[in-house]
Amino acid sequence: MRLTIKDIRGKKKSREKITVLTCYDYLFARLLDDAGLDILLVGDSLGMVFLGYESTVPVTMRDMLHHTRAVCRGVKKSLVTADMPFGSYDSPAQAVRNAKRFLKEAGADAVKLEGGGRIKKQIEALVSAGIPVMGHLGLTPQSASQLGGYRVQGRESREAAAILKDAVLLDRLGVFSMVLECVPAALAAKITKAVKCPTIGIGAGAKTDGQVLVTHDMLGFEGKVSPKFVRHYARLGQEVRKAAERYRDDVKQEKFPSAGESY
Ligand code: KIV
Repeated sequence: MRLTIKDIRGKKKSREKITVLTCYDYLFARLLDDAGLDILLVGDSLGMVFLGYESTVPVTMRDMLHHTRAVCRGVKKSLVTADMPFGSYDSPAQAVRNAKRFLKEAGADAVKLEGGGRIKKQIEALVSAGIPVMGHLGLTPQSASQLGGYRVQGRESREAAAILKDAVLLDRLGVFSMVLECVPAALAAKITKAVKCPTIGIGAGAKTDGQVLVTHDMLGFEGKVSPKFVRHYARLGQEVRKAAERYRDDVKQEKFPSAGESY
């Protein structure tokens, strides 16, 4: 049995931290589900991590459904939330139509949308259609260029007040949780106290109800410098490169395969 929306909401009440990682494929879904993650987020960050785009904007419904299906095939216990890609929730009707595809065709449990008051009608329509919604405030990558790039949001008091207002609105509209991305820790703590639903932070300090990271960042797949909120729990990029180099050398030098590895 997968965790339910009620289980996730209950963790805020029992003060158990909620663990979330991004996941884009069957293999990682099995590993992360086995490791006991509460939520696997099929983030549209897959556009950059998996598909090599410069931003999340080019990601399509087709991309997201394809990856969400693969993740759902690997999951037994974690709750699966799928990101609605840029341009897939411009109107309430379009949002409901596309969100239903994630639940019906891909097997996701919930969807995530970026934005606050701007998408109020879409969230209202989704919630009244019975679709569990995760909100996303602060740095919202689909509108990063409008926000002045990938930078911390809510440092100035007017900006912070607007994010808090959006958070209270999303909570009132009935989202089951919300991601707070790249906001000052004090603002995230204030929002966490102000709303009933769990907050999931990324670059938002330690006082949110849960944490999310991009799996490929925290596993150290990329050689490039990561944002300061990323902790590397492994350096798998180096490991993969070293293993591939050893294999290449063994083949070139006719050390692989050995007699024992042959029929
Ligand atoms: O797409 C994504 O990976 C996300 C997380 C960073 C929260 O939205």
